[in-house]
Amino acid sequence: MIILSIETSCDETAVAIVRFSKNKAEVLSNIVSSQVKAHSKYGGVVPSLASRMHLKNMAPVLRRAFKNAKISKKKIDYIAVTNGPGLIPALMIGVNAAKSLSYTLNRPLVGVNHLEGHIYANWLKQNLEVELPIGSSTSKFCLWKPEFPILCLIVSGGHTQIILMKKDLNYKIIGETVDDAAGEAFDKIAKLLELGYPGGPLIEKMAKKGNRNKFKFTRPMINSKNYNFSFSGLKTAVLYEMRSQQNFPPDKACLERKPNGGVWGVRKNIEVSLDDQYKQDISASFQQAVIDVLISKTIRAAKQYKVKNIILGGGVSVNKELQKQLREAKNKEIPNTKYQTLNNKLSTDNALMIAIAAYYNIINNKNIKDWRSVKADANLKISTLS
Ligand code: KG4
Ligand code: ZN
Repeated sequence: MIILSIETSCDETAVAIVRFSKNKAEVLSNIVSSQVKAHSKYGGVVPSLASRMHLKNMAPVLRRAFKNAKISKKKIDYIAVTNGPGLIPALMIGVNAAKSLSYTLNRPLVGVNHLEGHIYANWLKQNLEVELPIGSSTSKFCLWKPEFPILCLIVSGGHTQIILMKKDLNYKIIGETVDDAAGEAFDKIAKLLELGYPGGPLIEKMAKKGNRNKFKFTRPMINSKNYNFSFSGLKTAVLYEMRSQQNFPPDKACLERKPNGGVWGVRKNIEVSLDDQYKQDISASFQQAVIDVLISKTIRAAKQYKVKNIILGGGVSVNKELQKQLREAKNKEIPNTKYQTLNNKLSTDNALMIAIAAYYNIINNKNIKDWRSVKADANLKISTLS
């Protein structure tokens, strides 16, 4: 079975073509065209710009995917597309491209929840060849036969959720953020520190040289009995710390040399000391606060639901310190539960994960639709799928 999948929920235009056979996936092509540079000057994703860029990139990315896969369009058996959640102007470009392909090739269309894609990225196991999964060359993989229950921690720019799976395609959200997503918090703190966009990798880099105990930031909801998260208060705590800097210059906009040679940055008439050590300590302390909350809730949930596996997904799960500390906590507290990290390129947005999720939907006879009945839905809920 060959699936062509499309992902445009945020700022990556992505297409994959994957051949599935029993327990194996052969990645024929996997193209990700990132818009990061275009959005970085705005400090975040601008939905209308994302939509315009998806529109511009879609045809070239599709062409390249077919060229790399070296197969004719007629060989495609199913079209799959992310139909939510995400930015509606962005989702609509992918969904409409998928509908056009489904109509012209006369193939069924499978709508895939973006979070389901992040989860099923973990099913791609053990490369049977040596190539990386992202790139132009074909790669063959085994598909995972997991032991359930599985606990999924999905941490991305738009979502922070703990999802319990008792079997394939069966999802129960047991906790989620009540305000900002973890990745959104990383992006906002990076913006405050004038590091750039996307913030996660930049904060992680700064944090390596910082002191994580320098600032005692709040660990929001860490002691609440539920598995929900909140990150907006942490963001405010960082802002207040920056404002409380004793070496804040007078309340006027200026860019001038500090006595020690550093430079004052200017933001909304508030000048902040931006020397590197300060940025590194803020980054390390902030990152540790996020990691503490994520790990504490994940381990507690894993214990309560007696899960056999913990999996991660979404851009924030690329964070090496999060991975390391989660592994340490798991080994200490629930040594019999398994936890394997995911290839970085499969953690962030891509279309390969959408193809894998679509494959499991298809073999379970779910979500196989006519092109007319698949719609983009910015708030699509994962639990409604099973
Ligand atoms: O899953 P993703 O690519 O897109 C969404 O579905 O949102 O996640 C993007 C998010 C961004 O907020 C980015 O700052 C964050 O993932 N991120 C990281 C790291 N790499 C990406 N956060 C923390 N540490 C990282 N190394
Ligand atoms: Zn994502």
